[in-house]
Amino acid sequence: MERNTGLIVAMDVTRMDSAVEIASEVAECVDAIKVGYPLVLSEGLSVISRLADYAPVIADFKVADIPNTDELICEQVFKAGASGVIVHGFTGEDSLKACIDVARRYDGDIYVVSEMSHPGGAKYFQPIADEIASMAYEFGATGIVAPATRPERVKHLRSIIGDGLSIISPGVGAQGGKASDVIEAGANWIIVGRSIYNSENPKETAMELVTGIGI
Ligand code: C5P
Repeated sequence: MERNTGLIVAMDVTRMDSAVEIASEVAECVDAIKVGYPLVLSEGLSVISRLADYAPVIADFKVADIPNTDELICEQVFKAGASGVIVHGFTGEDSLKACIDVARRYDGDIYVVSEMSHPGGAKYFQPIADEIASMAYEFGATGIVAPATRPERVKHLRSIIGDGLSIISPGVGAQGGKASDVIEAGANWIIVGRSIYNSENPKETAMELVTGIGI
């Protein structure tokens, strides 16, 4: 993914027409559109190719299964036109490797969740986050997902993975994180959902966020 604005919009609306409308408004302000279960379960996998007309699409399916199933899932998602897939790392090295192998065939990206951004995400995730980040580095993932709600954790996780891997970071806005803090801590991209798609003026909000990122 090319870094022009540093902003990824999380398109967690549940209607294709809303998603397309918002995508067309914010396209010039974002480097990617993240889609997940809310939109895909509602409108089908075809949302991926539809939104890819506006920006590269990252599919946030937090893939977490045995290697064979992970492979089948990633295959479908890349085939549908996604540029990247977000996967879990706690399922182990073999599962992660299966996802990365598929991504390589499609010249796609794999981002590994190292720590969730919500309050409950700290309890079970934080104790294993460092190991997951190391594994992402070792196996050649594109990057990790780290919490904008805890910039000090982003900084720490950056120190583990070095500069070779990207950090994409959700939690700015509705969850309380601040764009400038998380970028300063070492994130390459912030991921923002509700603050943009619930805004009266998504484009204006996206532009303000881009100014806050300050690339
Ligand atoms: O609406 P909001 O800006 O909080 O959206 C954040 C997005 O990032 C949601 O799609 C959420 O599922 C996702 N996410 C997250 N924390 C993670 C991984 C993904 O908030 N660790």
